[in-house]
Amino acid sequence: MPNGVRTNPSDPVTTRSDELWARAAGLVPAGTQTLAKGPAQYVRGLAPKYLQRGVGSHVWDVDGNEYLDFSMGVGPLSLGYAYPSVDDAIRAQLEDGITFSLMHPLEVEVAELVREVVPNAESVRFGKTGAEVTSAAVRLARAFTRREKVLCCGYHGWHDWYIAVTDRDAGIPRAVRELTFTLPYNDVGAALEAIDDATACVILEPVTFEAPRNGYLHELRRACDRVGALLVFDEMWTGFRIALGGAQERFGVRADLACFSKAVANGMPLSLLTGREDVMALLEKDVFFFSTFGGEALSLAAARATILEMREKHVPAQLATQGRFIKDAYNRLAREQGLDGTQCVGLDARTVVTFDATMGDPLVLKSFVQQELLRRGILWNGFHNLSFSHSDADVAHTLAAYRETLALLAQAIAAGEVRARLRGEPVEPVFRRTSHFHTKPQPAAARA
Ligand SMILES: Cc1ncc(COP(=O)(O)O)c(C=O)c1O
Repeated sequence: MPNGVRTNPSDPVTTRSDELWARAAGLVPAGTQTLAKGPAQYVRGLAPKYLQRGVGSHVWDVDGNEYLDFSMGVGPLSLGYAYPSVDDAIRAQLEDGITFSLMHPLEVEVAELVREVVPNAESVRFGKTGAEVTSAAVRLARAFTRREKVLCCGYHGWHDWYIAVTDRDAGIPRAVRELTFTLPYNDVGAALEAIDDATACVILEPVTFEAPRNGYLHELRRACDRVGALLVFDEMWTGFRIALGGAQERFGVRADLACFSKAVANGMPLSLLTGREDVMALLEKDVFFFSTFGGEALSLAAARATILEMREKHVPAQLATQGRFIKDAYNRLAREQGLDGTQCVGLDARTVVTFDATMGDPLVLKSFVQQELLRRGILWNGFHNLSFSHSDADVAHTLAAYRETLALLAQAIAAGEVRARLRGEPVEPVFRRTSHFHTKPQPAAARA
């Protein structure tokens, strides 16, 4: 019998997952289209690799095991799997068609709705992926300012201008690499030193897990204004999650351009480029940003249904409530076990569990927790990406599972056997060389 969302008597059977993975070898380079979904992020030998279906906050793998999901498609399932009002909207649109030969009314209607809920969205365009709209924003900023240098902070997608600053920069021309630099988050001094009159824009994730300090976002706004650079918010994780209108709404800071994707269409592929009318007007003639599927109607129908539901049901507030409950309880349970080196941190609607190196190898510790949660029917990769479908019963099950798991972790640490008690290969670091790398200003040692 497949495992379920409870403390299971045995590890999940993953025969079909493993068969599919074997067929992908050599055929699908890297095995996955989305790095964060790949097997390197899960304990190999124990975790499932392929999911078949989902309802609400629960998913079933190809072997029939059921899990409570805390990744939620790595962000997009903001309402939940198979969410009725969104799926009804998609089905209704499907009756009429998916992609057309002229524009579709939804392109206007969803743009109007986005203007209502996203601050400073004077103009709106659509894309399919996050990388598409962050790249369009950078191109617009360069065209508007007639400058080339870009300062970034966070992860912004696979395109040349950004990946150039990571350790996966093969295939990117040197000339492109020399134009992008990273800023350390929350370091006002570094930002003031780096933002100069050669800067086209500062693009950043306005917040990840550390809240902005010392008026960081406001300082960036002022520094950009001083030199005539644009401020671009990458709101992939913040938009339609910490508030409908993302960090601009939550922190009261105006961005010149803001980019959204992930949570806006409950799993359908859609991204938004929003911002100042005078900047976005360059898309009329000078700056090229067009694609075959930009106005695809199923995703727009899904976005409209998602945004309306979120607004009516106050979804961001609900995500925060459930998330805060989990965060506070995790930290209490960890302290009860004397595990001072693990914490749950972040804004309530999206938190992450961290492991301090003083307790042992953080990746091995994370793998151990993941293993024990999988045995209790929870699919977890360190994050709590809350959805509107995460119920009180889901939260109660999660806390019971954490209580048992953290007790086992404390025992394993005391016995010096965390790695030995792992039934598979530990998870690998997530590719995210996004700070302290190709920085501007350069650290003093590198300048010398
Ligand atoms: C903050 C942020 N920006 C941009 C992207 C890129 O989006 P996509 O993978 O849809 O291209 C991501 C993806 O995870 C992201 O987290």
